Amino acid sequence: MPEAITTQPPSGRVLPHELPAALREAGLGNWIREPLDDAVDRRRRIIMPPAAAAMGTPVSAYQGALLAESRHPDTIFMMGDNPALLAMPERPVLKDFFMLRFSPIARKHLLQSARVARENGLDEKVIMACLVHDIAIAGLLSANHGYWGAQMVRPYVDDEVAWAIEKHEALRYFADESVGYTYPEAYIDYFGPDYNPPLYIRREHEAARRHRWYMTSRLITVNDIYSFDPNVVVEFDDFEDVVGRNFRQPKEGLGFDGSPVAHMWRTMIWPNNFL
Ligand SMILES: [Fe+2]
Ligand SMILES: [Fe+2]
Repeated sequence: MPEAITTQPPSGRVLPHELPAALREAGLGNWIREPLDDAVDRRRRIIMPPAAAAMGTPVSAYQGALLAESRHPDTIFMMGDNPALLAMPERPVLKDFFMLRFSPIARKHLLQSARVARENGLDEKVIMACLVHDIAIAGLLSANHGYWGAQMVRPYVDDEVAWAIEKHEALRYFADESVGYTYPEAYIDYFGPDYNPPLYIRREHEAARRHRWYMTSRLITVNDIYSFDPNVVVEFDDFEDVVGRNFRQPKEGLGFDGSPVAHMWRTMIWPNNFL
């Protein structure tokens, strides 16, 4: 007598509990990752919106509700690799952040800026600075991006490059006719025609103008353009030589070298970690 054949494997699937409707209605579904493969892990993962993104928005009102969700046994906070992101190598280098973390638009902006700087025959320090001038916007935080960006690269680049990146944030608002730099058209769209930079930015600009590295930073702004030829494709590898000579990649990988800024790179590797 043949043995009974079960046509269906025994299902161990247990759906996570119903999410409170209020969370769905508040659009928080975007911050909640349902189980991908219940054979591997049946738990739902919640991403707590970081304060810098949530503050001043309706999302900040839902912090308590998200914390309450984590008390369910089928729900945890996101820690470690988010399957929605591309996996990073164990010892990531600058290129990995460009290719696996930065959005296509940010990557293109940085690569095109570096390309224009190279075509203008500028010094390698300027090309390097252009290549990474907005990495904070690309991978970490937009507000104060020049300062964050400078800090992120400071241990790995020449002091002049880090200084130039920091100051480009303020210099971007002020024209310098000696090099043909005018107030960016894009800023009129972004901030409105009546925008007046705050006092600390105006002071930063004035101080930077008197600094011996002023022109290095100013040249970032000159090459920091938004209207690019859509037919030109720029690859990160086009700058492999410049990066090799001007960016000291730590052998442990960015994020793991114990430098004072390693945590910033780790935040880009695991941007959704709860803690
Ligand atoms: Fe910038
Ligand atoms: Fe830029």
